[in-house]
Amino acid sequence: MTRLNEEQLVALFHEPRTAYSFTDEPVTDEQLRRIQELTFYGPSAFNSQPLRITWIKSPEARERLISHLMDGNKPKAESAPMIALLSADHGWVEKADTFNPNSAEFIKGYYGDENLAKPTADMNAHIQAGYFITAIRALGLDAGPMTGADFAGIKKEFFADNAEIPFLVVNIGHGEAPAYPRGARFSHDEVARSL
Ligand SMILES: Cc1cc2nc3c(=O)[nH]c(=O)nc-3n(C[C@H](O)[C@H](O)[C@H](O)COP(=O)(O)O)c2cc1C
Repeated sequence: MTRLNEEQLVALFHEPRTAYSFTDEPVTDEQLRRIQELTFYGPSAFNSQPLRITWIKSPEARERLISHLMDGNKPKAESAPMIALLSADHGWVEKADTFNPNSAEFIKGYYGDENLAKPTADMNAHIQAGYFITAIRALGLDAGPMTGADFAGIKKEFFADNAEIPFLVVNIGHGEAPAYPRGARFSHDEVARSL
């Protein structure tokens, strides 16, 4: 017995496409809160949850973010009713008492070394970004993730005073039909081996 039936699996995994242009239908605050909630149920190392989400809502914030995108990505973000800027909190260890009280002493000791703490933040925030895209799709919305941006510039623009490292822009809304067919996916035997 699968958790989702075949129709639901198709709706969540087979059908959604990356969205590059969007209808005018807005994304509500309630949907944003639900995206966050679903995303954060996904597992992360030590339950660290280093992903941070910045909802880019105001026209002024949109303009500031879009100015740092590669030219080809600008119209995609301009078309989106909502833009999320995802970052990894390199200061995640400080919150260990909250996210993992049982292992907090170990986490603070072992990950006191920032050479270990930073890559752990990055890897787990990136994993959470996958849950984020899946949550958006599960809620019937479409996502357009983009790394084509000047993230050093975005860091200075939005996170100059904190330990967050931005790594992904995600356009969100109701996508218009894609302009081209989906690219081929690798088959099991092309990318998986059994030992
Ligand atoms: C991490 C990540 C970064 C991406 N960056 C860009 C980007 O900068 N610009 C863009 O147009 N598409 C970008 N994409 C979209 C991918 O090209 C797209 O998701 C992939 O080709 C699958 O397309 P499909 O969902 O239509 O099958 C990105 C996707 C991901 C997951």
